[in-house]
Amino acid sequence: MGTVSIIALDGPAASGKTTVGEALARRLGYLLFDTGVMYRAATLMALRQGVAVEDEAAVTALAEQMVIDVCPPTVADGRLYTVLVDGQDVTYAIRGPEVDAGVSPVSAYPGVRAALTAQQRRIGSRGKVVMVGRDIGTVVLPNADLKVYLDASVRERARRRWLDSQARGESLALGEVLAALVRRDQIDSEREMAPLRPAEDAMLIDSTNLTVGQVLAQILQEIGRRQATGCSSPEGLA
Ligand code: DC
Repeated sequence: MGTVSIIALDGPAASGKTTVGEALARRLGYLLFDTGVMYRAATLMALRQGVAVEDEAAVTALAEQMVIDVCPPTVADGRLYTVLVDGQDVTYAIRGPEVDAGVSPVSAYPGVRAALTAQQRRIGSRGKVVMVGRDIGTVVLPNADLKVYLDASVRERARRRWLDSQARGESLALGEVLAALVRRDQIDSEREMAPLRPAEDAMLIDSTNLTVGQVLAQILQEIGRRQATGCSSPEGLA
């Protein structure tokens, strides 16, 4: 009987990875590790230190030096985790629009990816973890016990992101959110190093018309099936 200990959850921006990942981690009692926070933290530090995000060498040097920690919530304000960079709480700062705009180019730099991938691998290989990202199943942990690729139509993803921004009291237009997502999708999937794409052995889920509960049920069913049979092939599930 195989134990599903390392779960890779990849997919494009706003496909529901974090929401599903959080529910899954809670259900299994596993650590939720959202790897996007690392690329966001590197981008934020560049912006704060006046380093242009286009300056690949300077941004890479920053990513190699900074110490990023993701730990259980340090403040009871509804956050899922606390992100610290060199001891400073940046949990909310990394979600700002300037970081959103700069993070895709930053995450395309090979030196930045090498530095952050090494940290992710170290944390993920300890097991009992749900790792959320773009390249977890293909590059970071290709031996993950279960790989899920979560997708949804770009319009539905824009609608979800827009609803989130409304809830935060921001006044972005839906068209702006859609345009930004299309741009990020393009950079994330066309970059040379670790582009966004499903691993060959990933279970594909299109959540356009599914609720979080339905997506979660599909994943839990697959985990149950694998643990019962020791089988690791997702054949017939895609
Ligand atoms: O999931 P997110 O929006 O927080 O991700 C921020 C950016 O980081 C996004 O442009 C893609 C990139 N990213 C990546 O390249 N690899 C990962 N494992 C996670 C995120």
